[in-house]
Amino acid sequence: MDVRTTLCVLFLAGFPLMAASIHPRQLRVEYRESPLGIDVTAPRFGWLVTSADAKTRGLRQSAYRILVASSAGSLRAGSGDLWDSGKVASSDSAQIVYAGKPLTSRAAAFWKVQVWDQRGKVSEWSAPAEWSMGLLRPDDWQAAWIGRDEPAGSEAPDRRLPARYLRTEFTVGKTVRRAMVYYCGLGTSELFLNGAKVGDHVLSPGLTDYDKRALYVTFDVTRQLAAGKNAIGLILGNGRYYAPRTERTRNFGFPKAILRLEIEYKNGTSSMVVTGSTWKLSTRGPIVSNNEYDGEEYDARRELAGWDRPGFDDSAWEAAQVVAPPAGVLAAQMAEPLRVVETLHPVSVKLLKPGVWIFDMGQNMVGWCRLRVTGPKGTQVQLRHAETLAPDGSLYVDNLRTARATDIYTLKGQGVEEYEPRFTYHGFRYVELTGWPGDAAPTTAALQGRVVHDDMQPVADFSSSSDMLNQIHHNVFWGIRGNYRSIPTDCPQRDERQGWLGDRSQVSRSESYMFDIAAFYTKWERDLADSQRADGSIPDVAPTYWSLYHDDITWPSTFLFVPGMLYDQYGDRRVLERAYPAIKRWIEHERGYLQDGLMPKDQYADWCVPPEDPTLIHSKDPARVTNPTLLATAYYYHLLRLAARYARMLDQPTDAVAYEALSEQVNAAFQKRFLKPATGVYDNATQTSSILPLFFNLAPAENRAALLASLVDNIVNVTNGHVGTGLVGAQFLMRTLTDNGRSDLAYEIATQPTYPGWGYMVSKGATTVWELWNGDTADPAMNSGNHVMQIGDLAVWMYEYLAGIRPDPANPGFRHILIHPYPAGDLTFVKASHQSLYGKIAASWKKDGGAFTLSVSIPPNTSATVWVPATDAAIVTESGRSVARAHGVKFLRTEGDSTLFEIESGNYMFLTK
Ligand code: BGC
Repeated sequence: MDVRTTLCVLFLAGFPLMAASIHPRQLRVEYRESPLGIDVTAPRFGWLVTSADAKTRGLRQSAYRILVASSAGSLRAGSGDLWDSGKVASSDSAQIVYAGKPLTSRAAAFWKVQVWDQRGKVSEWSAPAEWSMGLLRPDDWQAAWIGRDEPAGSEAPDRRLPARYLRTEFTVGKTVRRAMVYYCGLGTSELFLNGAKVGDHVLSPGLTDYDKRALYVTFDVTRQLAAGKNAIGLILGNGRYYAPRTERTRNFGFPKAILRLEIEYKNGTSSMVVTGSTWKLSTRGPIVSNNEYDGEEYDARRELAGWDRPGFDDSAWEAAQVVAPPAGVLAAQMAEPLRVVETLHPVSVKLLKPGVWIFDMGQNMVGWCRLRVTGPKGTQVQLRHAETLAPDGSLYVDNLRTARATDIYTLKGQGVEEYEPRFTYHGFRYVELTGWPGDAAPTTAALQGRVVHDDMQPVADFSSSSDMLNQIHHNVFWGIRGNYRSIPTDCPQRDERQGWLGDRSQVSRSESYMFDIAAFYTKWERDLADSQRADGSIPDVAPTYWSLYHDDITWPSTFLFVPGMLYDQYGDRRVLERAYPAIKRWIEHERGYLQDGLMPKDQYADWCVPPEDPTLIHSKDPARVTNPTLLATAYYYHLLRLAARYARMLDQPTDAVAYEALSEQVNAAFQKRFLKPATGVYDNATQTSSILPLFFNLAPAENRAALLASLVDNIVNVTNGHVGTGLVGAQFLMRTLTDNGRSDLAYEIATQPTYPGWGYMVSKGATTVWELWNGDTADPAMNSGNHVMQIGDLAVWMYEYLAGIRPDPANPGFRHILIHPYPAGDLTFVKASHQSLYGKIAASWKKDGGAFTLSVSIPPNTSATVWVPATDAAIVTESGRSVARAHGVKFLRTEGDSTLFEIESGNYMFLTK
């Protein structure tokens, strides 16, 4: 019985109905439900307050009380021996910082919360939740790193080492109370205990710069232990530690692992199992070779039956070497792991030529295939992956560059065999199968598409009356999910897959409407800080598997945008607090490059504008190319303003004043160099050279109208209603147009079925978003079918503008919400929601004849300002009543064509003619 059902029963039994309850599955610690092995010593709590009655309006928490106990029993008994917050008068229900006794290594913690509503009625206690602490100090491990370092010069030339299998046995002689395992296996690893995999993580742990930091994961294995003999096994893949390439790619060494299994017994004693020289190792297991780009080869004839169970004869195995630890520190993995999150079934399988079959997954996806096959021992089945097909129906692999994207399975010949790789992943829609045994053709049942990414809660929910827009939203969602590999990658298919900073500039804000990315981007922001050089330089790629320190402005600017995004979308200040000193160093470092107030440092220009020739990657047409110094200077100005905002938030007024003063100098230099006073436009008046000054408020007020007119003229007459920007302009394009009264043009650009645009990609059958606007015709040297950079602020626009759900920066994390829809073009309805830290926010509008209906749902503990398209409140009704009589609605003012109301939590339906 969940809390809500309990409340109903109490009500029926004659108890007064309580308005607030705590959603049983929504107790969060550091954004996650019941995280294990965290290393934040002052974790933050959050919970969802729900209403027992859907019709309730204005439900607000007026106070809370949190109890944290060291055992489930104490918590049940109502004791908060670690922390009893007492009754705290506050409506906060997210980002509440733990303030109890110091949390020590390995400690378990159990907690619950109760809340009081605005009338002082107290809720039931929530269901209990828990978390545990990791190994907080390096000497808590008491374990050695083990592996197998090959002699110098004998490394695999193809960078595809066989997997390392590691094992040991141990005895459990007493009744176990709790057993926790902490481990880090680099590059990637899977852990087994008594014949079963521990947990369901894949490609674990998350990627980092191993010279700075390596992540460990923690599992509770109490139930997997057996009385008597036990066995533990670990498989190590290469991942990025043993780099898949060496030219330009950093290599860290041979795969290695550290593990500590801690067993506590009921009688109060404990024992441990740790990695060391007594462990055995084999490189002769079934994973004959692996790497992320090229694929995995698996020979089922070499399976080591029982290797992860006690009693296995490992006498032929070698002793594991105790090897040097990675140079970086060990830290807890605090973000969600990668998992197989979905399984796709092929929509077709076709015979291309004798022995060659082409499967179509119907969707450009990222992950791998599960193969089901029966045949004679020794048969080799090969799977090659690609995003598209050549005109003759064969796989088109030119755009994969050197990535082989090929998995090979050798049958053991024992009935139905199932295989899926562990230590590789591919970006693909099509699979070429060869080597299929027997005379019968394979059916679609031979393969399944296993979709793999960081297992963050999906929050995407958007639909409209435009099928084109809905398909674009689908493509954006699949593009974004396919580029999560514990870092945000540029692409998932070719021999690159790097964390390019520029690609995530405003796209990260777009992503926040697709997934709960708070913990993921908290992790990546730390990766970015880890990548900062002593002189303050921030690279273009992080982790720096490719070491690219160009000291340009546009790509590293993401280091400043991400903390602001996390603050706006989740009310998270901690990431900003931690990043601020590094931000300061970077701003200062770049300041050294200013020349008379202009910033000449730019590396990539407005990357990938639609070129004049369909086969080109980069335009050579001076009319399409934006001046790099204009880009860098405009950006630097904007970043100084942002840094000033951050400085004020963090109570650093001296910094703020200095940033503002410098921004004025940059502004003056920018105008002097690029403004054409006669026309009010900048430089050669490309779309991007108008968008940046408008969006960044660089254009003097008196010039804005002329500048906007020039942008509109360029879109209407030069690009005929199509996008004309590259990566940089695309980050602000949709918002600039809509903020300046041209939502119609934004809509036209977004849905254009002709070249170039997102709609063009759809009309060419794309199911993700391409790297290049001309992705169907360009040179394959740089032409991925699954890149997020050109998404820019498109999804921000869909949610924040078309649907109109936006956080209020003055009251961030959707604590106060702005509901301001922009009905555009011929759209007759838009419906969207966003799952915020306070619960689900929904907005939908429809036009029906002359009537406009706006339905809004606001979660408890929040409030919203709503823009209703009516020039007079008297013509607006809410749920059939005049707004003046509607409960929870307050008239604010009329502004242009809209009337603004303030609403409390609950569901509303506004209607106007
Ligand atoms: C990547 C891009 C990246 C760019 C910058 C490309 O190879 O795929 O997404 O931003 O390089 O140079």
